[in-house]
Amino acid sequence: MKKVFVKSYGCQMNVYDAERMADVLSGEGFSETTAPEDADLVILNTCHIREKAAEKVYSELGRVREIKEDRARHGLETRVVVAGCVAQAEGAEITRRAPVVDVVVGPQNYHRLPDLLSRARKAKVVDTEFPVEAKFDHLPAASAARTRSRGVSAFLTVQEGCDKFCTFCVVPYTRGAEYSRPVARILDEARRLAEAGVRELTLIGQNVNAFHGEGPGGETWDLARLLEALVEVPGIVRLRYTTSHPRDMSDRLIAAHRDLPALMPFLHLPVQAGSDRILAAMNRKHTADEYRRLIDRIRAARPDIALSSDFIVGFPGETEQDFTETLKLVEAVGFASSFFFKYSPRPGTPAADSTDQVLEAVKADRLARLQAIVEDQRKSFNHGTVGRRLDVLLERPGRHPGQMAGKSPFLQAVQIESDAHGIGDLVSVRITRVGSNSLFGELEGPSPMDAAA
Ligand code: SAH
Ligand code: SF4
Ligand code: F3S
Repeated sequence: MKKVFVKSYGCQMNVYDAERMADVLSGEGFSETTAPEDADLVILNTCHIREKAAEKVYSELGRVREIKEDRARHGLETRVVVAGCVAQAEGAEITRRAPVVDVVVGPQNYHRLPDLLSRARKAKVVDTEFPVEAKFDHLPAASAARTRSRGVSAFLTVQEGCDKFCTFCVVPYTRGAEYSRPVARILDEARRLAEAGVRELTLIGQNVNAFHGEGPGGETWDLARLLEALVEVPGIVRLRYTTSHPRDMSDRLIAAHRDLPALMPFLHLPVQAGSDRILAAMNRKHTADEYRRLIDRIRAARPDIALSSDFIVGFPGETEQDFTETLKLVEAVGFASSFFFKYSPRPGTPAADSTDQVLEAVKADRLARLQAIVEDQRKSFNHGTVGRRLDVLLERPGRHPGQMAGKSPFLQAVQIESDAHGIGDLVSVRITRVGSNSLFGELEGPSPMDAAA
């Protein structure tokens, strides 16, 4: 059997896409391998969001070339595909810069992979078109066995692309305009995943809360309505969604956090910065105060909700005063975790042309200061769960024999001692202490929520 090695960079959308590519290729007789030296086909599923991410591709392609040459000495052929957002952004430039590459394919065209691979027998192929047909409608579903091997928590893409055009971001260019999948397709996929043993679904999209898919009767469904329907899928005990934009948190979606026990109390809601001047320059279309008031409304609906955000430091023109506003916002909101990035100018985006770029050393200093504050918040959030009883979805064996590891509702990693419970069980755990990377707890028994599913 031929073997394919897929390596993904970047966001969850790429993780999901990588699985779909592996599914398409399994129909062509490829099995997956985790060893690139054994692979007849190497796929790099790339990310263009920051310069470092994009440059990684070329260093990785250097390693792939060595593997290809080594395999060739043993009479083995290796074919190389670059997929993902760098493929979309750079197209034929990739085959020029790295002749080892046979196929360049943008994120909208993965359903065409078998055809592209056969065309690449004659000449290099670059496909970065935005096709009229939606790729998801042409991609095969994974078999139950493959789904099971991927675990009890699964990503499900419901929305792709972005119409927001934040001035720092490449996503609207690499992923194209917002597109929501039809509801019937999503429900089918959810049922199939659940039948194969999946217990937790994370709905994903670049702007997932802007979801507006076509419902079974032709009417438009928003994300809240979709979540309400997914709660009914037998076997599914937990729902999450990511990533959301503050502008698209509708009243109904906020109410869903109050009304749907299966919707987990963890929300990733990126704010990026706390200065209104910078938020406006970023084209985020909301102020810091609007974000704070939104958080108040969400907390009124679901008081124990844990929040996380993305932050960019050193956006062009960011002064020390602007940065102080970010620190103030962080103090006011209180996050359970977050991601931090130094602003990276991206070709083709408006902010990259600004003459007001911030020095790298200043960016590094602000990054460290912001990180330190949120790290304290993260620790105090974790310590605050000690003594509490939390449901844990068991995902895999723990580090030591007899241990199991899973996630709390707040996405914290939790380790417990248990011989009686297996992967996929939702159990009730009393949290006893906080370790460096996970919480530890004592098993109390099965969760009542599990029986309800
Ligand atoms: N759709 C999501 C974010 C997708 S990109 C949203 O709107 O929040 C993930 C994160 O990468 C962003 O939230 C942002 O914090 C960061 N990011 C995007 N472009 C960046 C850039 N040019 N430099 C640094 N960080 C960037
Ligand atoms: Fe990028 Fe902004 Fe769209 Fe998020 S909302 S993907 S940051 S343009
Ligand atoms: Fe990166 Fe593309 Fe995702 S740029 S973050 S892989 S949408």
